[in-house]
Amino acid sequence: MSTPVMHEAGAKPLDIEWVREQFPSLKTDVAGKPAAFLDGPAGTQVPRRVMDAIQQYLLKANANTYGAFWTSRRSNEMILAVRSAMADFFNCSPEEVVFGQNMTTITLGLARAIGRELNSGDEIAVTTLDHDANVGPWRALEEKGIVIRQVDIRESDCTLDLDDLRSKITSKTKLVAVGYASNMVGTINPVAQITKMAHDAGALMFIDAVHYAPHGLIDVKGLDCDFLVCSPYKFFGPHMGTLYGKKEHLERFRPYKVRPASSISPECWETGTQVHELIAGIGAAVDYLAELGKRCDPTGTTRRKALAAAYRTTVPYERTLLERLLNGLESLPGVKIYGITDRARFGERCATVSFRIGDHNPTGIAEFLGDRGIFTWDGNFYALNLSERLGVEQKGGVLRVGVVHYNTAEEIDRLLDALCAFVAH
Ligand SMILES: Cc1ncc(COP(=O)(O)O)c(C=O)c1O
Repeated sequence: MSTPVMHEAGAKPLDIEWVREQFPSLKTDVAGKPAAFLDGPAGTQVPRRVMDAIQQYLLKANANTYGAFWTSRRSNEMILAVRSAMADFFNCSPEEVVFGQNMTTITLGLARAIGRELNSGDEIAVTTLDHDANVGPWRALEEKGIVIRQVDIRESDCTLDLDDLRSKITSKTKLVAVGYASNMVGTINPVAQITKMAHDAGALMFIDAVHYAPHGLIDVKGLDCDFLVCSPYKFFGPHMGTLYGKKEHLERFRPYKVRPASSISPECWETGTQVHELIAGIGAAVDYLAELGKRCDPTGTTRRKALAAAYRTTVPYERTLLERLLNGLESLPGVKIYGITDRARFGERCATVSFRIGDHNPTGIAEFLGDRGIFTWDGNFYALNLSERLGVEQKGGVLRVGVVHYNTAEEIDRLLDALCAFVAH
């Protein structure tokens, strides 16, 4: 069914049948045609256990926190357990995990809290490659006199221009805000190297890992970043956001909060009542990935090791689909692909591919595909600076195909056949 995949020692090939059984919505039909969910970068489907965890919470633990009764205590226990699950996911301590409505809301709140400690003339570096949720919240500090320096890309392969980055990190830089991976063109940034550059200049490092999370193992300790955000709805969980913050920073910075709310970190960062049922779903999403990892490599003794094993299996699988997709796209007339296409550089990108076909409006292509049960996205996906920089913003942006580990070679072939039909029609 698919091209042979090279696997790292100790990891079994992905059992795609088992994976797809876990996701009931993948069986959806659209006008008699099976749905192909190639819209993962805007939100992935969820395994059954995520739905079950949400339901079980509502059935057996539904209450606010810190009450003197059973359901409330169960809510507290559940939140602690999910903090531990996310700590394994990030490779940090549970008290370094913060829950929030989504990445954008978390980042707006954090930027405001960091901003209150900065002075006029202090600098923050952002990038042209990033989703606006990792630009706008920092730009909002301009009204306090903070200077925002925007790092450019190399247009030929849509990678960050590291020389430009170097020149924009100065002795005045207080924070560097960079995405782990681009949600438009799939570029994976050298975030460990950039973290070192930021730290050498005495600046904090903030990483937006929203797009990276379904495509690679996150290791905040290894990266040594100060903050990292990602959104569980992009890695098979419910619609929420999560933040990792180094304990010392979560304790030092002062979030905006109401007086009766906890002053103790991490809870002081969680504004108002959280969506407890969805937090329960986050725990189940992490456990799904861990179970996948255990199936691929039963020797892993901890959840963290199981998570690592899951990605050791999904990453090479996604790459085979990426190669198949690029092979097909490159053989279509009039297709322009944005980002890295060199097969030897797949380690620098994930399986998110954006392209245009001649002057066709991407919305028209997405509708053509949607009518055939193939779900893709068109536009700028809030990576507005990038869309403008690539000169596509005025033309409807690009068409984006997002591959995750539940997609199949057949789905890629169906997509390519439909694009052939689109070009021919
Ligand atoms: C790379 C990236 N960063 C940030 C966001 C915003 O995340 P949220 O919807 O959780 O606010 C997105 C959403 O698409 C994204 O892809």
